[in-house]
Amino acid sequence: MKAYLKRKKNIYELGKRVINNKFHKEGERIITMEHKKSPYRYELINFLLNFLNRETKYLEIGVRFPQQNFDLIVSKEKYSVDPGYENPKNPVDFKVTSDVFFEDVREGKILQEDILFDVIFIDGLHLADQVERDIKNSLSFLKEDGYIVMHDCNPPSEFHASENHNYKLSPAKGYWNGTTWKAFFKQRQSKETYSCCIDSDWGIGVISKSLNLGKPTKINNPYFEFNVFNENRKESLNLISYKSFQKKIL
Ligand SMILES: C[S@@+](CC[C@H](N)C(=O)[O-])C[C@H]1O[C@@H](n2cnc3c(N)ncnc32)[C@H](O)[C@@H]1O
Repeated sequence: MKAYLKRKKNIYELGKRVINNKFHKEGERIITMEHKKSPYRYELINFLLNFLNRETKYLEIGVRFPQQNFDLIVSKEKYSVDPGYENPKNPVDFKVTSDVFFEDVREGKILQEDILFDVIFIDGLHLADQVERDIKNSLSFLKEDGYIVMHDCNPPSEFHASENHNYKLSPAKGYWNGTTWKAFFKQRQSKETYSCCIDSDWGIGVISKSLNLGKPTKINNPYFEFNVFNENRKESLNLISYKSFQKKIL
């Protein structure tokens, strides 16, 4: 009984320490702030598809629960790719990883090998080397005036930008942006594409081959350190409001 009570007290003390911890408090504050922002990713994607003013082809990499984004997208043709790691039902067109999907298209096993999309939404595995491959592959299947849209480019803290998806007790409170920002930042150094990031819904990155969305970043962050990124967030991402973004497009 004594040991049981001691254990209970220890758990209580630990909980109290977590609740009062400054990183956890700050985590709660920034998560609440992020939830107040608009638009959501599907609104931005629909804005771009609508702007193109034609019959469009949309591809989503990483879908999980289609009702949260994929089903809300308005496009003549829509294709979804997901290996089903987070939703056992996985109601998508291609139940494979993005790497396998692009390889199968190239080999003519699915769709047409010369298919080009109007908008590709990258929201699969949120680790930088995978996201970098997703960007490269997407660029080769994107129309000249099409757009790549990327979720989770603006992690508000290093806890959200962790490489580990499975640790849920951190100040990120289960929200995970991973290291997507690194792949987006790397692409932002390229002179071959234009890019910016809308400050909403955890950072919605947009990449274009032809429309000037902003100059490449000159921020020096060779080791992709989170603190350097954080101090130069605006310039690293070309972080802008939705209103400013709309002005660039319209
Ligand atoms: C964050 S969820 C997608 C959320 C959805 N796009 C939305 O907007 O609501 C990430 C999904 O990526 C999938 N995924 C993980 N690794 C992947 C990979 N290598 N290729 C494609 N999808 C992957 C997971 O199975 C998961 O369903």
